[in-house]
Amino acid sequence: MIIAIDGPAGAGKSTVARRLAERLGAAFLDTGAMYRAVTLACFQRGIDPSDAQACAATARSLEIGFESDGTMTVDGAPTDPAIRSEDVNLRVSEVSAHAGVRETIVAQQRAVAERLGDVVAEGRDTTTVVFPQADLKVYLDASPAERARRRAAEVGRPDKVERIEAALRARDAHDSGRAHSPLRYDPQAALVLTDGLGVDAVVDRILALVEERR
Ligand code: C5P
Repeated sequence: MIIAIDGPAGAGKSTVARRLAERLGAAFLDTGAMYRAVTLACFQRGIDPSDAQACAATARSLEIGFESDGTMTVDGAPTDPAIRSEDVNLRVSEVSAHAGVRETIVAQQRAVAERLGDVVAEGRDTTTVVFPQADLKVYLDASPAERARRRAAEVGRPDKVERIEAALRARDAHDSGRAHSPLRYDPQAALVLTDGLGVDAVVDRILALVEERR
């Protein structure tokens, strides 16, 4: 069984997908973490994120592994927490927009799902491109203000909420406006708006959708 969840930055996809996977005994596939790992590797190798060829070569050179609990490894080592840094946040959309990067990473995502079987995947194009045959598709969204508030609380900087909202909006615009696999709502997806909803309420709503399809 494959459950695919897409939506903009900060909609709560990772938290919800991880918990849903736990509840279902499925593997959790954080596809954004893979693009973040490629971006970090580009920084470490002195590659300009605008260089499509070099970014694609970097993606091909990385050995990205997934354990069934969702733990990601890069070249056999635990993932560097720096994939969540501000620097990566600012450039990941540029790196992930290159067709050559996506080709490699999408192939790996499909291979992981093939190997792990039951998977809850989340990202920007998991419903539309990576797993168009998913058993359940969900589009998770919330207002930009709510998403920024949550992200600011997560990083312990409620004073930075306005800056965070601007950054989220910029990343969404980039991810929705790109030529290859843009973030878009798949008409087959259930739209779940999470303003004012806690994680458990969202997970329960998606679990109810899973049950309907069983
Ligand atoms: O989900 P997360 O915020 O970690 O994703 C980081 C970035 O990776 C996104 O802003 C987007 O540019 C890229 N991404 C993507 N396709 C996916 C998942 C993430 O292009 N399926």
